[in-house]
Amino acid sequence: MNEKKFNVLKKNFFYIESYGCQMNISDNEIVISILLNNGFFLTENLKIANIILLNSCSIRSKVELAIKNRLQKLKYLKKEKPILFGILGCLSNSMKKNFLDNNLINFTIGPDSYKKIPSIIRLSMKGEKISHIFSSKKETYNNIKPFRKKNKITAFLSITRGCDNMCTFCIVPFTRGREISRDPYSIIKECKTLYKKGFKEVTLLGQNVDSYVWFGSDELKKRIYKKIYTENKKIIDFSKLLDLLAIEIPFMRIRFSTSNPHDMSNKVIEVISKHSNICKHIHLPVQSGSDKILKLMNRKYTRKQYLSLIQKIKSIIPECSISHDIMTGFCNEDEKDHQETISLMNEVKYNYGYMFSYSPRPGTYSYNKLKDNVPEFIKKKRLQEIIDLQRNHSIFQMKKYIGKIQEVLIEGESKKNNQYWYGKNTQNIVIVFPKKTYKIGETVFIKIMDYTSATLMGIGIEKK
Ligand code: SAH
Ligand code: F3S
Repeated sequence: MNEKKFNVLKKNFFYIESYGCQMNISDNEIVISILLNNGFFLTENLKIANIILLNSCSIRSKVELAIKNRLQKLKYLKKEKPILFGILGCLSNSMKKNFLDNNLINFTIGPDSYKKIPSIIRLSMKGEKISHIFSSKKETYNNIKPFRKKNKITAFLSITRGCDNMCTFCIVPFTRGREISRDPYSIIKECKTLYKKGFKEVTLLGQNVDSYVWFGSDELKKRIYKKIYTENKKIIDFSKLLDLLAIEIPFMRIRFSTSNPHDMSNKVIEVISKHSNICKHIHLPVQSGSDKILKLMNRKYTRKQYLSLIQKIKSIIPECSISHDIMTGFCNEDEKDHQETISLMNEVKYNYGYMFSYSPRPGTYSYNKLKDNVPEFIKKKRLQEIIDLQRNHSIFQMKKYIGKIQEVLIEGESKKNNQYWYGKNTQNIVIVFPKKTYKIGETVFIKIMDYTSATLMGIGIEKK
């Protein structure tokens, strides 16, 4: 059947899948909200859907491949009924031409164009093939109330979009555009609404949250500062935003991700230590332990500066957990550089981390100007080495919790045993324990009895 036979007037059900980072999960909630407010219906059943949306990610070639494979798997649906396939998100920007040549895809929409989704779908139903991609210096989706599933107690909230850092390996500045910060007033308002709806934890999202900055209007500044600050501050940076939020939503846990080490200020570390509702965990991607590689990546910090930042964090917030992203096999990485990454990991002993092998992304500086000259098997071998090392470090860190009592926010049922809850402590470590009479959303005290490299196990105790 062809798309021209689409019945534009009938009820339209959309199905949506998200790939990649937390930012994409947060964007999904924006897309769902826009569509629900425009007469579309959400379904989790592929058989019912007549619009299938894949919210894509192009950060690594592996993720891109996973999305393409998924599309191939879903294409049988097109034979059964009139159905539209739409690619949203970063991949639509980086692969625009390929997708338009692809018979399966009806439309592609970049991350700054989601408000156009309803009209694009309607045009596609009439048989048009559309690619809507533009990079906006303003779009923060301030005025969209994200759709959030019922009975959830943790929420994501994007405070910046895009990135200006231009790490040489990274496609984000090209697919998501220049960095824009969302106005603090709307962030505070949304957090308060979340709290009223029963959410107990919010994670502030951005590719580089520490470079959050709001110049705002005088009117807005007055409104915010009058409440909290007496001195006449000119701008709101990330430390001030955190400070404001911690005060305005005192019973809500606050997390944030990601921090580029180059942009993390002392003030941010101090604000984290000052407020008990700001979680004591920092995700601080290092990428490599070698100065030569950091320079080639344009990360704008040295190994020494990174390690002294870690020192600072540990001295101001001794209980803070630290996680990382590390990439192996970047251009010109030799065994000595790799050993420097290993020695940095040994020095920090991260709680956990995300590890990848380098894949060149079209359009980036490293793709255009540097040689992808580390053989694939060496990239993989180095990757396995750091994964194994991280596992040892995670175990080392987990062991320290044995016998200790942790304050845990219950998030849901353990996937492995329905008699157990899972939740997280302030350090973002997953803790599993018998349900007893506890309920989702409660904060409980758990004595830690056992561990794996990724999870702590314990039992609930009465608060002293
Ligand atoms: N904003 C974050 C990174 C976001 S991307 C930061 O400041 O570091 C998430 C992770 O994906 C990166 O930290 C990096 O380790 C990995 N990554 C990004 N581009 C990649 C590429 N071309 N190949 C392999 N891994 C990549
Ligand atoms: Fe990418 Fe570097 Fe920004 S990794 S998202 S360009 S901080």
